[in-house]
Amino acid sequence: MSRKRQMEPAIRDFDERSITDAVIDRFQNTPDPRLKKIITCLVRHLHDFVREVDLTFDEWLYAIRFLTRTGRICSDSRQEFVLLSDTLGISMLVDAINHRMPEGATATTVLGPFYVENPPEFPPGFDISRGGKGERLFVQADVSSVSGAPLKNVVADVWQSDTDGYYDVQRPDLTQPTLRGRFRPDAQGRFHFWSILPSPYPISHDGPVGQMLIATARHPWRPAHLHFMISADGHEKLITHVFVQNDPYLDSDAVFGVKSSLIGNYTHEPPGVAPDGREMKGPWRKLVYHFGLKRLL
Ligand code: BEZ
Ligand code: FE
Repeated sequence: MSRKRQMEPAIRDFDERSITDAVIDRFQNTPDPRLKKIITCLVRHLHDFVREVDLTFDEWLYAIRFLTRTGRICSDSRQEFVLLSDTLGISMLVDAINHRMPEGATATTVLGPFYVENPPEFPPGFDISRGGKGERLFVQADVSSVSGAPLKNVVADVWQSDTDGYYDVQRPDLTQPTLRGRFRPDAQGRFHFWSILPSPYPISHDGPVGQMLIATARHPWRPAHLHFMISADGHEKLITHVFVQNDPYLDSDAVFGVKSSLIGNYTHEPPGVAPDGREMKGPWRKLVYHFGLKRLL
């Protein structure tokens, strides 16, 4: 037996309390201090959890099988572990801890699985619905620093669901990106585009996360929203949504993503001339929204 091995305390005859210190002790030589903190804290909390609920062997096995199913359903286009994190509120907790925002900065929320990198770039006023069905929506937005100062190299990516609650990536019949695009705001940070009013939609619930929602009498719905990802020189990238007021799911979002400051006023507008000069024959909706970006530390 090596000398090092002899010096380690004997880990035998542990009981349901002493096992925790024994396991934590086994990680004492972890060279990376952050990893050491995370893994020892994880062990302590997991052991406390097992003791607190008096976990049965069947329940432990169920959890192992649940996580195995969660992994097996993952693919390039489906991340069930992130969905599990979203529905357990962990994604929004991590977001809150990492985005303590100063006054004037727009609040953040979950990214979700439907962002596509480098979406097609469109000129001001483009209709990202490409004439698709739905209530016409004019979006007039502006971006600045929290102090109101203009920003450089602003890029605003937008994506949203259609009237049936689907994103383009969920519709194999579509031949081009739809209800998503990139806009470059003008020198004053303003950008505008046409679209349709987004609809509420259920998150994927045909897998283990859906089983968890059913078993716990929860619904899978998200309130209607537009997604925005906005970046600018020297500022934190903003990932957020603007929710539609009066949506029935605002107070029960399946992924806990709603913040009051992110509820937009999608006003009802009568037929007539829209702000970009477009003649509107029927009623339409308008969203005016300001985004404030936090300076990078
Ligand atoms: C979304 O808003 O696209 C989304 C966010 C979290 C989970 C599922 C969908
Ligand atoms: Fe979404």
